[in-house]
Amino acid sequence: MKTFFRKIGAWLEDRTGIMAAITPILNHLVPPGAKWAYVFGSATLFCFILQVVTGIGLALLYQPSSDAAYQSLKFITDQAMFGRVLRGIHFFGASGMIIFVGVHMIRVYIMAAYKYPREMNWITGVFLLFLTIIMGFTGQLLRWDSNGVWSSVVAAQNLGRIPLIGTTLARLLLGGDTIGAQSLSRFFAYHVFLFPALIFGLIGLHLFLVIRNGISEPPKAGRPVDPKTYRKWYEAMLKREGVPFWPDAAWRDAMFGALVIIAIVGLAITFGPPALTQPPDPSLIKTTPAPDWYMLPIFALFALVPPRTESYLIFFGPVLAVGALLALPFLSGTGERSPIRRPWAVFGVVCVVIFVGALLVAGEIAPWSPRFDTKPVTEFVSYHNPQLERGAELFYKKGCQYCHMIRGEGGLKGPDLSLIGRTWTPDQLDVQIVNGKGGMPAYGGSLKQDELRAIVAFLSVQK
Ligand code: HEC
Repeated sequence: MKTFFRKIGAWLEDRTGIMAAITPILNHLVPPGAKWAYVFGSATLFCFILQVVTGIGLALLYQPSSDAAYQSLKFITDQAMFGRVLRGIHFFGASGMIIFVGVHMIRVYIMAAYKYPREMNWITGVFLLFLTIIMGFTGQLLRWDSNGVWSSVVAAQNLGRIPLIGTTLARLLLGGDTIGAQSLSRFFAYHVFLFPALIFGLIGLHLFLVIRNGISEPPKAGRPVDPKTYRKWYEAMLKREGVPFWPDAAWRDAMFGALVIIAIVGLAITFGPPALTQPPDPSLIKTTPAPDWYMLPIFALFALVPPRTESYLIFFGPVLAVGALLALPFLSGTGERSPIRRPWAVFGVVCVVIFVGALLVAGEIAPWSPRFDTKPVTEFVSYHNPQLERGAELFYKKGCQYCHMIRGEGGLKGPDLSLIGRTWTPDQLDVQIVNGKGGMPAYGGSLKQDELRAIVAFLSVQK
């Protein structure tokens, strides 16, 4: 029996050469002292694998069409076998991936592992960071509850404000001029095919580079990186004191990865997935939804900056952030790596962490961030006029009320509109709604003529 299996093994090895390819990777030497700080990259990878597996499970039952998506998610959550846990793992896995990608990046920055010759490791990592955030965002839209629909409306309308290419980008995102059935198919295709394919490719490249350039040795003050001598020195150091990747270094990755997976599954079983908010239809009971936590800093940032700068921020913010991150290894690609010799770099990263943390807290408690738990006006006022009733309903359904207080119900991001009919003419209202202004998205593309008229009529009688 034993020889039988050995024969199969030998046959496979002869025809594929897999072990011959993998063994050098497992045995390759890594610097000693690569301790627990080095586990966060692989933890991110474990989370990603978890996302792929649970994502496939969810895709088996999820229906990416605007009339069925919400119901199919409800079915997954309430009825399908393991559905609740599956959705939970996918949610906490996403959270884990975002946290570990951030921690991994901070670790690499503090230890200056992005310096020569690992600039491309850093650059592929920057793209992976942004793809991870985009996956979080598109995933949230796939829930296709009022929260998800509202987020995509605002995203598209803000994209539309970018000079020159804005309209094209918004159309690309939504699959048309307005949000509708076709938009959900788009988001699904992005979330399930396009971005994962890019992530797979980039992870492959990232790992290839990690092996080709070697894991960075822990930095030491007074031992700067010099491109002329570094590779030679690194090779010699490995030969002298290197340890094989498996098992000397990899057991920590395996152990931490296992802990992470156990924690995610535990959280999923204990807390379950985030509740679905009402379907994009105003007639249902309210729950207490909010954007997923990893989106809160971004919401908070947009809510805090003066409205006039918001459209610039939407465009230049990401461009500047990506530009700065990509430029980093070229601006300081050599020299000291030790954080002790780079106090300003450490100070900078501490500031960024505090800033993002503060935004997160601010987004959690902010009265000015969009409020998703408001009641439609029709629930407590009767207009005895179909157009006004419709206007009130649309005011809620189109997300106006997430930002605007009316009759004591609604968000505080925009002005209270309870008395707007006293000072604003219907024409002025028209212009404001179609074009947006300041922190308000333009609705020109997403409202039909009769819908616009109903909303304007509704607002005109608020006196
Ligand atoms: C993302 C939040 C947001 C949403 C959604 C939103 N608005 Fe606004 N709205 C604002 C902000 C912020 C202002 C103030 C703009 C300014 O400073 O010029 C504003 C201004 C207005 C004004 C002018 C009031 C005044 O006193 O300046 C009207 C009218 C208005 N919005 C109606 C609507 C309607 C109708 C909808 C839905 C179709 C809507 N808004 C959706 C944020 C929002």
